[in-house]
Amino acid sequence: MRSSWLNKLSVIFGPRPPLSWLLLCLISALALIALFGSSSSSAFDSVTPVAVPDIYTNYRRLKEQAAVDYLELRSISLGASRQRELDLCGRERENYVPCYNVSANLLAGFKDGEEFDRHCEISREGERCLVRPPKEYKIPLRWPAGRDVIWSANVKITKDQFLSSGSMTKRLMLLEENQIAFHSEDGLIFDGVKDYSRQIAEMIGLGSDSEFRQAGVRTVLDIGCGFGSFGAHLVSLEVMAVCIAEYEATGSQVQLALERGLPAMIGNFITRQLPYPSLSFDMVHCAQCGILWEKKDGMLLLEVDRVLKPGGYFVLTSPANKPYGSSLGMKKKSMLTPIEEFTEHICWSLLAQQDETFVWQKTADAGCYTSRKQGAVPLCKQGHETQSYYRPLVSCISGTISKRWFPIQNRSAGFQLNSDELEVHGVESEDFYEDLQVWRSALRNYWSLLTPLIFSDHPKRPGDEDPLPPFNMIRNVMDMNAHYGGLNAAFMEEKKSAWVMNVVPVRAPNTLPLILDQGFAGVLHDWCEPFPTYPQTYDMLHANGLLSHLSSDRCSMRDLFLEMDRILRPEGWVILCDKVGAIEMARIHATQVRWEARVIDLQNGSDQRLLVCQKPFVRK
Ligand SMILES: *[C@@H]1O[C@H](CO)[C@@H](O)[C@H](O)[C@H]1NC(C)=O
Ligand SMILES: *[C@@H]1O[C@H](CO)[C@@H](O)[C@H](O)[C@H]1NC(C)=O
Ligand SMILES: *[C@@H]1O[C@H](CO)[C@@H](O)[C@H](O)[C@H]1NC(C)=O
Repeated sequence: MRSSWLNKLSVIFGPRPPLSWLLLCLISALALIALFGSSSSSAFDSVTPVAVPDIYTNYRRLKEQAAVDYLELRSISLGASRQRELDLCGRERENYVPCYNVSANLLAGFKDGEEFDRHCEISREGERCLVRPPKEYKIPLRWPAGRDVIWSANVKITKDQFLSSGSMTKRLMLLEENQIAFHSEDGLIFDGVKDYSRQIAEMIGLGSDSEFRQAGVRTVLDIGCGFGSFGAHLVSLEVMAVCIAEYEATGSQVQLALERGLPAMIGNFITRQLPYPSLSFDMVHCAQCGILWEKKDGMLLLEVDRVLKPGGYFVLTSPANKPYGSSLGMKKKSMLTPIEEFTEHICWSLLAQQDETFVWQKTADAGCYTSRKQGAVPLCKQGHETQSYYRPLVSCISGTISKRWFPIQNRSAGFQLNSDELEVHGVESEDFYEDLQVWRSALRNYWSLLTPLIFSDHPKRPGDEDPLPPFNMIRNVMDMNAHYGGLNAAFMEEKKSAWVMNVVPVRAPNTLPLILDQGFAGVLHDWCEPFPTYPQTYDMLHANGLLSHLSSDRCSMRDLFLEMDRILRPEGWVILCDKVGAIEMARIHATQVRWEARVIDLQNGSDQRLLVCQKPFVRK
């Protein structure tokens, strides 16, 4: 992906692959003729100089011309063989999340909580079918309205779960029969989240929670986020909060958070590490998250320590700590002592305690570990500093010898990394900013393509102005091969309403630390496996170079497309950028999963193509 692409592009029409190469060439030629023709024709208002064509209008003109020409060609080629479309799954698969079949895990002998862990090897079998949306599914409201009100038919929740919601971070109410409302920023629905956030800020020593960013708190891992209200509040303070919770068949915290447009993924650490590198987050937060921290010889706290950055905070709010009366007061003591004792061994200091809330700070001084007394938790050996992809939990302290050991309080205040920070990641500033430049222009181009018109065989009349899609057309975006996180940066610069889940494939260069250090959401993932999320949770999937990267892998492309289809909401978008061969294959798979798809030729002499797809809304 380099600059100046799309400045001459043509669209190859054809909803049904495969198109013969002859057809391809013919259409390209026709499109080029259209390009030259349009520059001199008065039928097109030629306000835009030909030398500096406006990408968007240029694209439209080409499309209009090519569409007419194509209609004839198509009638000739329609007899060509069609790819078989995959069947829809039964209704029982509506909420299907692979790898988390608890009853199958129990049957396989997993117990003591391990049955809630991710076991992709168990649920590998099963028919290949398209997971369909719930019967009454409705397209979510756009951001920010969709943050506070969701369609109740889109999520799976029981009446009991509904009625039992009421804790601070877990409050919701039925508005009308088909809508669920959450805490809203305008204070319409009272909720303690703002007070709670302010309380945490004060416990850290800040004047108010609007100072979180200045104090170095940019990313928060919210374990068991309720329905995401704390995260929703943090978003308004420009703090990135990622929610993780274990798989839940109904009333899922992750599903509700994503439905509201808040970053979330299924994740737990009962026996295995989270798929994040060490030193990832500025704060880890657990409000009644149900984890028994004192269990497992402190290994759960060590996992928190691993993902916390130096000087970062662990916030624990637990009603079990509440001093109700004398008997519970004693319970509080016996419950906390092991945690408090353990935190001393790992160089955390208890900053403050108020009501049910405790705030610890991880040391910013790597020297702290060597000055501890005997019997303390050992430091991990060097081998543990590599990629963490669901490895077993460890009973040692990670990250201390990392080049990324840098206190959060000492970070530069700006949004972008400086050259020293980039150097830590072995990235040249020049490379990094060049990449960002490419993504700025790529995003602008993508945005002009995100309209159902792109699939139309009957485009509007030439000269009609097409408005760009609104800034808040999409919210939950996944970049399946995120590299430096450039697409995410471009989304932010362009002030689109989206957040991006930046995925770094396990066998790609591990740029995840760089992504996380920019304050973005990100995760390591093996694309031969399903992604830990619920169906219909993303509005857009983007993958640059992923298909050719995976082509040498053991995994099936068909399964990858099925998985993409599962996690994409109806009418959601897919943009794939890759080499010609990979895109031709992708088009066949896109047809099998019933997406509308268009190949876009960048026409700059490169072998890169775009495939723009939209998932249809199957209402049956
Ligand atoms: C054409 O554009 C693609 C996509 O941005 C880019 O990867 C490629 O390097 C460009 N090729 C040339 C010859 O400019
Ligand atoms: C989960 O596993 C059980 C037992 O193997 C099986 O009967 C059931 O169909 C599975 N559920 C899904 C949704 O695959
Ligand atoms: C962080 O800042 C403090 C106070 O300004 C300073 O004493 C300390 O040396 C800095 N640490 C690093 C690693 O730069």
